[in-house]
Amino acid sequence: MSTTSEEQTPLEEVRVADRAHFKEGPPLELFRRLRAECPVHWSTGISEYPDEDGFWSVTSAEDVFEVSRDWRTFSSEIGGFVALKNAILPLELQQAMFIGMDPPKHDRMKALFQRGFTPKRIAEHEDAIRVITTDVFDRLDGRDVCDLVSDVAQPAVARVIGSFMGLPPEDDEVWAGLINVIVGAGDPDATPAGAQSVIEREVPEVFERCGKLIADRRASPTNDLTSVLVHAELDGERLEDHEIVMGFFLLMAAGNDSTKATYCSGMRALIENPDQRRKVLEDLSLVPAVVEESLRMFPAFAHFARTATCDTELHGQTIREGEKVVMWYPSSNRDETRYEDPDRFDITRNAEHQAFGAGGRHFCLGTALARLELRILIDETLRRYPRMEIAANPTYVESPFANQHKTLPVRLRPL
Ligand code: HEM
Repeated sequence: MSTTSEEQTPLEEVRVADRAHFKEGPPLELFRRLRAECPVHWSTGISEYPDEDGFWSVTSAEDVFEVSRDWRTFSSEIGGFVALKNAILPLELQQAMFIGMDPPKHDRMKALFQRGFTPKRIAEHEDAIRVITTDVFDRLDGRDVCDLVSDVAQPAVARVIGSFMGLPPEDDEVWAGLINVIVGAGDPDATPAGAQSVIEREVPEVFERCGKLIADRRASPTNDLTSVLVHAELDGERLEDHEIVMGFFLLMAAGNDSTKATYCSGMRALIENPDQRRKVLEDLSLVPAVVEESLRMFPAFAHFARTATCDTELHGQTIREGEKVVMWYPSSNRDETRYEDPDRFDITRNAEHQAFGAGGRHFCLGTALARLELRILIDETLRRYPRMEIAANPTYVESPFANQHKTLPVRLRPL
């Protein structure tokens, strides 16, 4: 995890969402300093995107909770739901996903999907998810080294969300590629031509491919989530095509990147903390605790954002109407007023965390699915490869949003 030279920079000059801070994961030292010295902090802009406005960073658990809970004061809609208002996904596209809507429209859209994501409905998929996971591991037979990101996590999570969306397995790789580039836009490998290139390349491809899916489902409805979107009606009206596409994109992005990120970070933490791995290997009923501690320490999305709908005050700081407020979960989940020794990976601490958001209207829809996938993935990995080791230096996606490894090379069965 990174400590940046920005620690020494005066805080008023620090621009928290600059990619430079995120080269080796989130800037934990900077966050620690912000929590201690300036828990509601103003960044004057984002260096890579001169057209974007400044924003407030919120870094303590209490303040993240406050912002998440109060959707009337802190809108997900008027300025978008990430730090960047327009630079990667234009505001209009953000507002076409229910994560980028405010009530009442948000609540009605979310309700359409909630039935498909109840813990009971998700539990019914347990066997299927286990089969997907064991298939992925079977493909590794005979190999000594693999990349946990691209050889294990990616194919497993892509197939799980692909099956929920009703996509054929042979398309998983293409979809995963598109989603990874859009979510990780800005990273020099994901978008060598610059983050804005996604608007010319990947976003139109998502629209084109989705157009075909929409036409298929209109002609012959199925019982997958894509069909739910295509046939959804709000106030007696069908969704517009761009709302269907972006609803599809939201579920695909949330389903792909989040679980993949948490699984890889959690496995790395187990490998690097042999005492914790020993504990869980002796008692696999601790796997859910591994999952929660991994979610706390390595939240898959480093931030979500809101925009103030009126002048307000947070932690004694005045925030003006129209100003953006960014909630940093890698910081709030390590808030020392909440956690003892917050940087210690401790599977016995039973931590609550804000990785899925801090409650409120936008609380993650996929918690039950994510937890189930993570439990199965970690459980199967530990059973098959109890001595897995890091084989080479892991790398991170350079992004203030996607908190995930780019590569995590491991040796599967060291002697
Ligand atoms: C480790 C796994 C996951 C993490 C850490 C995670 C994190 C989050 C967070 C922090 C939010 C709140 C956004 C906000 O407050 O603006 C959110 C919302 C959401 N998540 Fe997840 N998520 C995960 C898995 C999933 C999965 C598997 C799905 C479903 C396929 C999913 C679907 C959604 C949706 C649809 C929303 C928007 C909810 C709303 O706006 O009401 N997530 N997620």
